[in-house]
Amino acid sequence: MSTINYSEKIPNNVNLSEDRTLQRALEQWQPNYLNWWNDMGPEGSQNFDVYLRTAVSVDPQGWAQFGHVKMPDYRWGIFLNPGEKDRKIHFGDHLGEAAWQDVPGEYRANLRRIIVTQGDTEPASVEQQRHLGLTAPSLYDLRNLFQVNVEEGRHLWAMVYLLHKFFGRDGREEGEALLQRRSGNADNPRILQAFNEKTPDWLSFFMFTYFTDRDGKFQLCALAESSFDPLARTTKFMLTEEAHHMFVGESGVSRVIQRTCQMMNELKTDDPAKLRAAGVVDLPTLQRYLNFHFSVTIDLFGADESSNAATFYSTGLKGRYEEGKRTDDHQLRGQTYPVLVVQGGQLVEKQVPMLNALNEVLRDDYIKDSVGGVERWNKVIEKAGIAFRLKTPHKAFHRNIGALAGVRVAPDGRVISQAEWNANVDQWLPSGSDRAFVAGLMGRVVEPGKFANWIAPPALGINRQPVDFAYVRFG
Ligand SMILES: [Fe+2]
Ligand SMILES: [Fe+2]
Repeated sequence: MSTINYSEKIPNNVNLSEDRTLQRALEQWQPNYLNWWNDMGPEGSQNFDVYLRTAVSVDPQGWAQFGHVKMPDYRWGIFLNPGEKDRKIHFGDHLGEAAWQDVPGEYRANLRRIIVTQGDTEPASVEQQRHLGLTAPSLYDLRNLFQVNVEEGRHLWAMVYLLHKFFGRDGREEGEALLQRRSGNADNPRILQAFNEKTPDWLSFFMFTYFTDRDGKFQLCALAESSFDPLARTTKFMLTEEAHHMFVGESGVSRVIQRTCQMMNELKTDDPAKLRAAGVVDLPTLQRYLNFHFSVTIDLFGADESSNAATFYSTGLKGRYEEGKRTDDHQLRGQTYPVLVVQGGQLVEKQVPMLNALNEVLRDDYIKDSVGGVERWNKVIEKAGIAFRLKTPHKAFHRNIGALAGVRVAPDGRVISQAEWNANVDQWLPSGSDRAFVAGLMGRVVEPGKFANWIAPPALGINRQPVDFAYVRFG
C-alpha cells in the first residue's frame, strides 16, 4: 500500500486500475488539468528543468525522490496514507462507531462542500503565484516556488480523486468547476477571499506561505480527524507536503530580516529611507506586511459563531486540531468558549456554546502556532543587536468576517474611530508606496549561488545540495 505505482498514466496507491470507471473519469480530467496548468501555472517556465521532489511512497521514512523535471511532466497522482485497521470515529454524535469508508447519504452535501472548498484553495494559490518566477531572487528560491506550486497542484488531485470516487456525476462537475474558477476573477472567482488577493512580490509570497499555507495545515489537520476515512487519509499525506511550504515562508522572511539587520548594522541606522535607498526592506514595512497577511488569513477560519461549524463537528465530518490528543468528552455539548464582541466601544469576551465556536477554537490554535515563527524571526533581530521586535496584531485587527467585520481596531486591540483608522492605516497595513517600493526591489537573479540584494542566502541547500547548485536549468 505504501508504494506508489508509477507505471500507470496516473501514479497512485489506491489500486486505480481495479476501478475502470473511476480510472477513465480521472484520465478524462487529466488533460483538462494539464491545460489549466499550462494556462495558469508558473508563467513562461514550461521548459525549465527543475530540481523537484516527487512522492514515491507514503512511508514517512524516505517518501520523496529528487531530480530535475520539466514541470508539465511532473507525476501528479493520488496518494493516501495507509488505512488504520478498524478505525473508530473519535468525536461527535457518532463517537465509537466504525469510521466510514463511503459517504453517508445524509452528509453528502456537507462533505462535498468541505472537499470543494479545500480543493479550490489549491489551484488558487498557483494562480496567485504564477508571475513570481519572473522576479525570483535566486535559483534556490525559484525552485522552492515551483515545488510549492506543483504540490498545490497535487493537492487539487487529492480532492478531485475524492470527488470523482465518492460523489458520482456531481463530483465530476465539481472537478471541472475547480479548473474553471480563477483567482481574482470578477465573474468566476475562487471561493475564499484570501485566495483572490494578489501575491504580487516575493515578500508577499513568503508571508503567504508562512501564514496562509499554515491555515492550510490547520484545515487539513481538522479534516485528518474526519470520520470519512478516505478524506482523513488523503489529508494526512497532504500534510507531509505542506510542511515544506511553511518552511519556505518562515525561512524566506527570516532571510529578508537577516539581510535588513546586516544593512542596519553596516550603515548604523534604522532610518527606513536610508535602508530603502540601500535596497533592503525596512523592519516597519515588514511589520505591515505581517499585519496584512496575518489578518487576511485568520479570516479564513470563518465566522466566530457558526452553526455550520457545529454541524460539521457533531456529525463527525471535521474535528478539532489534534482532536485525538485532547482529553475532554469529544462531544462538547453544554460547554462554552469565549468569542470577542464590541460592547460600549470596547472589545469584550462573550461565552457562547463551544460547538458554535469551533471556527474560533481552530483560529486560536492557529494563532498560537503562527506566533512561534514570529518569535524565531525576532531571535534573528535580537542576535543582530537591534531593539526592534515584530508582533502579530490583535486578532480583532482588520477583520472582514464574523462579529468583528467592519469594526475598526488598532493592532494593539483598541477599538477606534474611522477617523483614527484613516489617519493611521498607512502605519499598520502596506500602503501603495510600500508595495511600489517592494515591487521595485524585485528583479530576476538566475546565476547559481547569487542572491538578490534584499535577501540573505539560506544556511543550507535543498536535499543536501550546495546553495550554488543549479536548482533550475533553463531550456
Ligand atoms: Fe495545499
Ligand atoms: Fe501549501
